[in-house]
Parts: sequence; structure tokens; C-alpha cells
Amino acid sequence: MTDALKNNKKLSAIIDSVSDVAGYIWQKGWAEKNAGNISVSLKDVINISDGECCGLPHRELPAAMENLSGTCFLVTGTGKRMRDISKSPMSNILIIRVDETGKGYNIIEPTECEILTTLRPTSELPSHLSIHSMNAERASKHRVVIHTHANELCALTQASEFCDEKVLNRILWGMHPETKVFIPAGVGFVPYLLPGSIAIAMATVEALRKHDVALWEKHGVFAIGDTLDNTFDIIDILAKSASIFFTCRAAGIEPEGLTDNQIDELGKLIF
Ligand code: 13P
Ligand code: ZN
Repeated sequence: MTDALKNNKKLSAIIDSVSDVAGYIWQKGWAEKNAGNISVSLKDVINISDGECCGLPHRELPAAMENLSGTCFLVTGTGKRMRDISKSPMSNILIIRVDETGKGYNIIEPTECEILTTLRPTSELPSHLSIHSMNAERASKHRVVIHTHANELCALTQASEFCDEKVLNRILWGMHPETKVFIPAGVGFVPYLLPGSIAIAMATVEALRKHDVALWEKHGVFAIGDTLDNTFDIIDILAKSASIFFTCRAAGIEPEGLTDNQIDELGKLIF
């Protein structure tokens, strides 16, 4: 890492937070093998000019993202384990900078050839960057994107009767009062599409225009937030709700859920 990056306190704090949250995700049991990925916009954290990228490795993006031109991102590497990202973040993440055309990116970190040959950005880069592009377009304070395979949320989208936003939100809000309080807009639903594709990236952006979380049918969850901890919390709260739902059903109890009036009342609380 260059001295400029090493001495960047904001960047160090973000890397520490990525390490913490990757560890929580692993402990939760949501991260079999390389499951899941994380990205963070480094918009006000790293400023690098086009000239400084001269000679750095360059790759094409599957779609142009003009409004991200010049912005750096921390992204986890494809095939990397959350538990390894947690233990040794710098061997498992990259810092990339979208080039001046928005059609490609330079790799800022790592710079050592040995590590570079084993590190490529997550296969879900199209979704991550498309979401950051939407955030930039809306001048949103959200700079974190987390994708994970939260067990109970994956399980919910295995039954076609639940694969509907209204139904999903009614179940999730109904299982615990805090779910409506902390996720007032509920979850969006993305029907099954090929992981890593532009098609799933576009569908996810559409779902996240109205929600901070999207459930991918039979796959996992994408969430956006301002900090790593807050983004993790959103997924954790939803997973808790889904877990209460399945615990009741496994015990032979049909969960009643909160009433519509109770949910509406919770939606008006201000924290
Ligand atoms: P990566 O290892 O490429 O990040 O993929 C993990 C994943 O969860 C794909 O959906
Ligand atoms: Zn996945």
C-alpha cells in the first residue's frame, strides 16, 4: 500500500469496519465458502487523478457508469471467504477507481504483482457498481453495499407464495415490532436471474429505488446503508424476523403476526 493510503485514517477505519462486519457475517453462518461480497464508495476518502492511474492495471466494466468516473471503491475479491476477509482484509479486498470514461477501472490496490494475480473484484461487481451509480444519481448518503446469503431470508424465497413484496413485508414486519421501525420501507423482491449478470444488477437497482434491501429469489440479500454496521444491522433484523416465522412454523404454530394497525402505528414512531 502506498504511504498516502496507509496514512489515510478514514480509509483505515473503513477497512477495520469491513473486517468486523465480514467476521459477523461468517459467525452468523451466512457465508459458506466465498458467499457474499461487500463494497464501499470511497468518494470523500481517496482522491486520485487520472494521471496518477497511468500504468496501473486497467479492466473493462460490463456497462458504462459515467457518473462514477473518478470515484474509488473498496470491493471484496471474487472467491474470497468472509472469514479470511475478516482476518486479513488487505489480502482479500481491492481498491479500484472508475476511469474518466466510466467504461473501465484501474486497480489502485493491491500493487504487488504476487497478490494482484490472485485478486479480482467480486463477480457481483455489476450489481455493486450499478447500485453505487444509483446512489450517486440520487446524491444518497448510502455508500455501503452488502450482499450475503442470510439463511432464513434465502429460505423465505423458496416458496412461490412468499415471492411477492406485499406478502414478504407483511410477514417480516409482523414478526417483530422493530422490523417496521428500522426498515420502514420494507424489502424489494428480485425474481431469480443469473448471478453476476447485468440483468440482475438492473433488477436490483429497480428494487432498491424504493427500498434499502432487496431479496434475490433463491439466492440471498442485497442491502445498502450509510455505514457497514448499519447495513449489517438491517439484514440481521430481517433475518431475525424470518427466523421467528420459521421457528413458529417448525413448532406447529401458525404465527399471528402484528395487526395492520399495530404495524401502521410503529411506522409513525420516530427514533
Ligand atoms: P464472489 O466470490 O464473486 O464475491 O461471489 C459470491 C457470491 O455470493 C455470488 O453471488
Ligand atoms: Zn451470492
